[in-house]
Amino acid sequence: MAAYIKLLVFVVIHMFLLVSADVRKKEESLGDKVQQLMEWNNKKSIIRLNGDKFRQYVKASPRNYSVIVMLTALQPQRSCVVCKHANDEFQILANSWRYSQQYSNRLFFALVDYDEGSDVFQSMKLTTAPVFMHFPPKGKQKKADTHDINRNGYAAEMLAKWVGERTDIQIRVFRPPNYSGTVILALLFAMIGGLLYFKRNNLEFLYNKTSWGIISLAIIFAMTSGQMWNHIRGPPVMHRNPNTGQMHYIHGSSQGQFIMETYIVMLLNTAVVVGFIMLNEAQTMKGDPGKKRILSLVGLGCVTIFFSLLLSVFRSKYQGYPYSFLFK
Ligand SMILES: *[C@@H]1O[C@H](CO)[C@@H](O)[C@H](O)[C@H]1NC(C)=O
Repeated sequence: MAAYIKLLVFVVIHMFLLVSADVRKKEESLGDKVQQLMEWNNKKSIIRLNGDKFRQYVKASPRNYSVIVMLTALQPQRSCVVCKHANDEFQILANSWRYSQQYSNRLFFALVDYDEGSDVFQSMKLTTAPVFMHFPPKGKQKKADTHDINRNGYAAEMLAKWVGERTDIQIRVFRPPNYSGTVILALLFAMIGGLLYFKRNNLEFLYNKTSWGIISLAIIFAMTSGQMWNHIRGPPVMHRNPNTGQMHYIHGSSQGQFIMETYIVMLLNTAVVVGFIMLNEAQTMKGDPGKKRILSLVGLGCVTIFFSLLLSVFRSKYQGYPYSFLFK
């Protein structure tokens, strides 16, 4: 009997030792993990992870820190323009955290690039990029731990708000100031001011309808052709199909556009408007009726041909649009 008790005590003690060793090992590895993350974080505010590191530092327990991960595709051959912009915003947010007063080891920002960790994308069944996810220190991920880009966008301020909701850490976004807009505006005012000053004795030109008309048209063409969209979204100039090697100047859907396309549309719009102006001029012009007729025919031709081209561009982007004219 005593032998049994001895054995039992032995086993219990042994198990206790095993468990406590395990706990200590876990604690050690948690300490190591946090230390490693801090070390990386000292060099960069966004920690770049491949598949293995992602599993070790973000997925595996134990953890006592939150990680915000951006899963993205930044390699140029992936031609993900949104990823680049999202990355800039994420960088601003991560820097705002990294250099804030409250910076601590409670929260880390990390990035997994598709070309370094495609297995991560597969294991989470992700088919789009970028995706922002929060990995809490404890417990399962919830639906709200994935940032809803479609609804809230990826501006650093919106991401900060979401991070605040998920982690209770409020980050004040600090944007490095951008003076280029101000400089251009100041130059513009200086030029206009200078012009008015030198022409101060002869301000007739201010009453010139044609020059105002041309300025207005230039602004209208720039805006209706989507130059502002280009400025904000930075689309590629054109696109080469990697399979056929064919160049595409027009984006195949109404969700996007290429820079080349906006110039084409701008030219077509201009040609249509010039056609209308010719028609108008032919009506009011004095003199030779033969010239009038030629001008109105040329104007009519311009309007018909270029408007048809414009329609066919629209048709190619907006699948299922039923109307066309002259050209398919
Ligand atoms: C997490 O655990 C490690 C190791 O025990 C510790 O050094 C670190 O300060 C902890 N972090 C937080 C936010 O409590």
